[in-house]
Amino acid sequence: MTRILVTGGAGRLGRSLVAGLAARGHELVSVDRDVSDAPELSGIAQLAADLSDADAAAAVIAESRPEALIHLAAIAVPFSAPEDVIMRTNAGLAVSVLGAAAAAGVPRVVAASSPTVLGYGAPAGWLPDRLPLDERTPPRPWNAYGLSKLLIEQTIGMLRRQTGDAVRFAAFRPCYVIAPEEWAGAPTQQGHTVVERLADPALSAPAVFNYVDARDVSSFADTLLSAMDDIPNGEVFFVGADDALARDPLAELMPRFFPGTERLAAELTGTRSAFSNAKARELLGWRPRHTWREELGETAAEERVA
Ligand SMILES: NC(=O)c1ccc[n+]([C@@H]2O[C@H](COP(=O)([O-])OP(=O)(O)OC[C@H]3O[C@@H](n4cnc5c(N)ncnc54)[C@H](O)[C@@H]3O)[C@@H](O)[C@H]2O)c1
Repeated sequence: MTRILVTGGAGRLGRSLVAGLAARGHELVSVDRDVSDAPELSGIAQLAADLSDADAAAAVIAESRPEALIHLAAIAVPFSAPEDVIMRTNAGLAVSVLGAAAAAGVPRVVAASSPTVLGYGAPAGWLPDRLPLDERTPPRPWNAYGLSKLLIEQTIGMLRRQTGDAVRFAAFRPCYVIAPEEWAGAPTQQGHTVVERLADPALSAPAVFNYVDARDVSSFADTLLSAMDDIPNGEVFFVGADDALARDPLAELMPRFFPGTERLAAELTGTRSAFSNAKARELLGWRPRHTWREELGETAAEERVA
């Protein structure tokens, strides 16, 4: 059992992550701007603080004395605030929260980054060097959200250069998070239902058809925390489902939405995702358990043929 402090614990991903880690036997403390009455957080210790204030972040850590900290608090949607506000908020939160955790000697510190660091969807065009995308794909953010997430990863690098291996750090890039109630029809982060995203590929294309079930993010975080002493410090992981959030193969959809990817996407046949989760599998032994087809009671075409 680990005592885990989750920042942004009252948010969309935070609620599921806190509940999922508590169900796995950990002791959770959630900190957010306000205490939440969300059912997932009932019975969970909650603190209210504005974490952009470094003193407040330090006080929360001193009060809860966590053995691990997972930093989610952020403006989580690109262009949901002016660019300078997103930049200031997310980068500032990373320095105040991760810096306070390092200064307090929290043994394991994990931060949520985002696949958007790669820069897909850039108005001036985007062509990856190869597909599927993975942790070796060079980040080329094109908006303040993506850049702020890259800065969070870089903040970890900065702090590691201050603390050496006294603190173990990692960052993860969760794909488009689907909470359990969203399989049942609740709106997803962008306001559409999962079924609407599947019916219109233009809705899922901005995320390059990626997704991950929030419960798989919990299992990832649990696995990561238990492995952090034994893997290289400061690793970054994509956390995504095995398959794409699309009804048609990405070999067909990618060229339609990302001109120039015809040759690169040719391998993305069947249900294959544009994002590889192989690093998390190989370094941590983690695998996602949930797929949209199972959650919606559908079967992949190739499974039906077999
Ligand atoms: N949901 C996704 O699909 C997704 C995908 C990739 C990355 N992420 C990242 O995961 C994290 C969580 O995303 P989410 O979807 O749960 O977002 P969310 O907006 O639902 O939750 C973020 C939480 O952070 C809190 N917060 C913001 N500023 C704060 C401050 N100054 N002090 C205290 N709390 C503050 C908010 O109140 C909110 O509850 C974010 O860092 C986001 O960038 C999410």
